Amino acid sequence: MKGKNIIVGICGGIAAYKTPQLVRLLKKQGANVKVALTEGGCHFVSELALATVSGEQVYRKIFPPTFTENTDYTGHISLGEWADAVVIAPATANTLAKLSSGLCDDMLTACFITLRPGKPVLIFPAMDGQMFLSPSVQRNIKTLITQGCTVINPESGELASGLCGLGRMPAPESILGYLEQELSSATLHSPLRGKSVVVTAGPTREKIDGVRFISNYSSGKMGFAIARAAAKRGARVTLITGPVHLETPFDVDRHDVESAQEMLAAALPFFRSCDIFISAAAVSDYRPLAPCEGKMKKDEDEIAFTLVKNPDILAEFGQQKASGQLAIGFALETQTGLDNARKKLSAKNLDLIAFNFFDRKTSGFDVDTNILTLIERDGITTELPQLPKDDAAGKLLDAIEKLLPENLH
Ligand code: CTP
Repeated sequence: MKGKNIIVGICGGIAAYKTPQLVRLLKKQGANVKVALTEGGCHFVSELALATVSGEQVYRKIFPPTFTENTDYTGHISLGEWADAVVIAPATANTLAKLSSGLCDDMLTACFITLRPGKPVLIFPAMDGQMFLSPSVQRNIKTLITQGCTVINPESGELASGLCGLGRMPAPESILGYLEQELSSATLHSPLRGKSVVVTAGPTREKIDGVRFISNYSSGKMGFAIARAAAKRGARVTLITGPVHLETPFDVDRHDVESAQEMLAAALPFFRSCDIFISAAAVSDYRPLAPCEGKMKKDEDEIAFTLVKNPDILAEFGQQKASGQLAIGFALETQTGLDNARKKLSAKNLDLIAFNFFDRKTSGFDVDTNILTLIERDGITTELPQLPKDDAAGKLLDAIEKLLPENLH
């Protein structure tokens, strides 16, 4: 953030009262901040407060109210030229409509259409939930997304109307997090930017009875590291996870499941639309055929279960995937298993498999490092050293980026 030129655009919504705090946070991070305030915004936050925290004049009207010898006659394009990024928070329905149709009647809208290509624009709509969901607002948001803007959906909670629902602007700290992510060079230049990535992670639990289950030692750390790294590169990430004790990575859409069947059901709706499916979950291969209701009693000296095979989620995706979609798997092996990994790559119709040696100290389940060997569909094999899981995730994504259809020659 240090030295970056950030425009904070503020429109006329009640959440505008939080924006001096956002400006302060940005300044604390070393950013240069200029505020573009709409006519509506003036009703909710004071120009003086914003000028004080930004240390700059606040930009409002395209036409200067008075003309002096210092008047900048090209002021309407200067903000767009200056900015490294634009954050619009809160963005009202009115400003979204103007931005999407190219209207330009104040400094914020002028800045938007004069912004240099490739500079990130982050838009935080905040308004009444019904307004937000109205077809015209949604259409305008879609247009802005196709123009390359990042639009962050409002949060749910108490609204100014007294109702509870969708419409709140995220907290200034959270907005700062989104902007830092957007501005990281990895995000700006990654081919994963804007791609839809689905990651499965963690173990699954297969019920024996009402209080017991079959599972494994997976902690979910590798899958979460991949989800975090992909989101940092600007991908839209969906994380489907079994039971784990991990924080949801920033800007990741998390779905919690228990069993393999639930994991498949949660993943299926994304099969068609995702660009990349990364299967890092340690899915239980089998489940008890007939789990008991309630708690089983220990009346018998010996008991036997019948286990039935679970669906293979990755193989299912590999079978269904359309041309251009990538299927990425892991092969966890306790013996020297490169050949097994190659077999899985071909049997499950994958584009890449990460052979993951399991020794419980340096790689595999529930440790913070991993030793991966990446095998691509054409046989190219890359041995990675022992790495922290975050770094291993980065290397895996580097390899995946090269396999994206647009990067193949
Ligand atoms: N996988 C899956 N669904 C399953 C089993 C595995 O999606 N029911 C995925 C894993 O997430 C991993 C890959 O398939 O990406 C390989 O998993 P692994 O456990 O190494 O191999 P299996 O296919 O289960 O075969 P085996 O247990 O015989 O080694």
